[in-house]
Amino acid sequence: MVRKNQTLGEFIIENQAEFKYSSGELSRLINAIRLAAKVVNHEVNKAGLVDITGAAGETNIQGEQQQKLDVYANEKFIQTITNREIVCGIASEENDDFITIQGQNKDNNNKYVLLMDPLDGSSNIDVNVSVGTIFSVYRRVTPMGQPVTKEDFLQPGNQQVAAGYIVYGTSTMLVYTTGHGVNGFTLNPAIGTYYLSHPNMRFPKTGNIYSVNEGNYAQFPQGVKDYIKYCQAEEGDRPYTARYIGSLVSDFHRNMIKGGIYIYPKSKKATKGKLRLLYECNPMAFIAEQAGGKASDGFTRILDIQPESLHERVPFFCGSEEMVNKAEEFMQKAE
Ligand code: AHG
Ligand code: MN
Ligand code: MN
Ligand code: MN
Repeated sequence: MVRKNQTLGEFIIENQAEFKYSSGELSRLINAIRLAAKVVNHEVNKAGLVDITGAAGETNIQGEQQQKLDVYANEKFIQTITNREIVCGIASEENDDFITIQGQNKDNNNKYVLLMDPLDGSSNIDVNVSVGTIFSVYRRVTPMGQPVTKEDFLQPGNQQVAAGYIVYGTSTMLVYTTGHGVNGFTLNPAIGTYYLSHPNMRFPKTGNIYSVNEGNYAQFPQGVKDYIKYCQAEEGDRPYTARYIGSLVSDFHRNMIKGGIYIYPKSKKATKGKLRLLYECNPMAFIAEQAGGKASDGFTRILDIQPESLHERVPFFCGSEEMVNKAEEFMQKAE
């Protein structure tokens, strides 16, 4: 049952049976994620006061400058989840390779693996703009009790059992799905409790917001250029409004509430796009579909792509169904 203003703790317990969490393991994992999110939230909120802004001095496997909060959030999530021995492996945007969690008794009978973008939109921290965390959960495919292998992580997004994000915005929200719709919880920071503030979130069928980094326009494929021109044309309900925060989580969250499309296409500079299939696109695509929206690479459903490597990138078109359909039409026409 979904009751507004229920706490996240109550929600997890009450929906455990309905969501068929066989052993309560997934509930424990969501619990650990909400705990780590509170710790990260605390640090994000005082970022201007303590020495946590700025670059950490290292470059990650993505070739990006790691921010101090990238490193902090990554450590907190890994620590919280590893200590509880809830999953058998973790892959993160910030780690070169996946982590194997063997468990103290060596019999690791946990069946889930976690994939995450511990801090999304990290270039926004220093300027006090919303950032987020994205997570994705799969059932392992290799036999239990043995160390996980790459195969457990390289599953198509349609195999996800849960996915969600935390947006550290004007308020902090945890939004997630276990394949039974999407629910959003807002943190009351005074008492450290999340309340169900956005039950059964749905993407409007269409909208009037388009989110794309137009600075790269000259390098976009023709189909994307044509779609942007379509968004800007004076006709019917157009021109649409352009909104681009530069934090996928925040841009997605706004579009899901108001109706809109987010596009990160490939370009001459980013020949495969920029966003990571496993840590960003798959979880967002699962949430989008569960909320009645759509996610594609311009031609194919994101969730049906067979990943080939941990950090692979993919073009991303995601949002209100009719808007993504329209963008796909332009992509196909320009082929
Ligand atoms: P991250 O901070 O996890 O590396 O992700 C950054 C991503 C995404 O959040 C955002 O939408 C996009 O990069 C912005 O990229 P541009 O600055 O190229 O527009
Ligand atoms: Mn990054
Ligand atoms: Mn990201
Ligand atoms: Mn990140």
